[in-house]
Amino acid sequence: NNLIKFIAALPKAELHLHIEGSLEPELMFELAKRNKVTLPFPDVESVKAAYNFNNLQEFLDIYYQGTNVLKTEEDFCDLAMAYFYRAHRDNVLHSEIFFDPQSHTERGIPFNVVMNGLLAAVTKAEAELGMSVQLIMCFLRHLDEESAFATLRMAEPFLDKITGVGLDSSEVGNPPSKFRHVFAEARQKGLKLVAHAGEEGDASYIKEALDILNIDRIDHGNRITEDRLLMTRAARSAIALTICPLSNQKLQVVPDLRNHPLPYLLRQGLRVTINSDDPAYFGGYVNDNYKALAEYCGLKAADFVEIARNSFLGSFLPDQTVAAYL
Ligand code: HPA
Ligand code: ZN
Repeated sequence: NNLIKFIAALPKAELHLHIEGSLEPELMFELAKRNKVTLPFPDVESVKAAYNFNNLQEFLDIYYQGTNVLKTEEDFCDLAMAYFYRAHRDNVLHSEIFFDPQSHTERGIPFNVVMNGLLAAVTKAEAELGMSVQLIMCFLRHLDEESAFATLRMAEPFLDKITGVGLDSSEVGNPPSKFRHVFAEARQKGLKLVAHAGEEGDASYIKEALDILNIDRIDHGNRITEDRLLMTRAARSAIALTICPLSNQKLQVVPDLRNHPLPYLLRQGLRVTINSDDPAYFGGYVNDNYKALAEYCGLKAADFVEIARNSFLGSFLPDQTVAAYL
């Protein structure tokens, strides 16, 4: 219980959070009503009951369905503010949030609506809560590279407000190499690069993301344990891994948290961090994810200090700002 309090009080950064995945069922119903959208569920309880996933795809199907209630700038602002207030309570001082523009533009919501709504929330969170926030625009890997290029072009007027690009959605069968040109262009524009890799895909997806996309940070990366050489390389280059324990458990990536690779990766000297991924769907915000590692893997206070330090070291904040947090 002291450890729970210690975790709660630790200043931390969150580096792996899909803003659409922070849509709580209560807000989903509120927005459905506001926008006159019919949900395929009668009430909040039945939505929650549907959150049982056997794999990533089962989750993604329901996650994209949830985004249908998001229509206006105000909706995106409310969505992001709800997350910022919640993260602030967990002592998250800095957050780098993913957003999936293609899941909105594909259903006719203009790119600018998404951006203006999110940016209004970022400004508000920085002013009201003293948080710092950065935006990472993700490409949906089940779509083609041309669609990713179109998205990058739409982002052009906002590039000074976007820190980086990422890669998410269905991993297996959509390797990093599929997006080599668009990542190269994003790099040329000065953006940071991240990619989901080694969540359901094997270690070769991580290797490709590093070798072909030149990513600055690995999202998930659990399956790096399968390639010892790659693990050594990740430790030596101090590349951060954004690990999401409750997500791994809910998506059956690691069905039993007692077998979670995070403690092993930490001991091997990798820069691992703990994050919530899609907290509204996976049953917990960032502190709950820290607690899960305490409860199921026996991590101690000193481990969490290191992990929280890693969250700032692995962030895209300027070096001086990072130093101030350590
Ligand atoms: N993996 C892949 N795509 C996603 C995820 C994830 O954990 N969350 C939202 N989109
Ligand atoms: Zn994710």
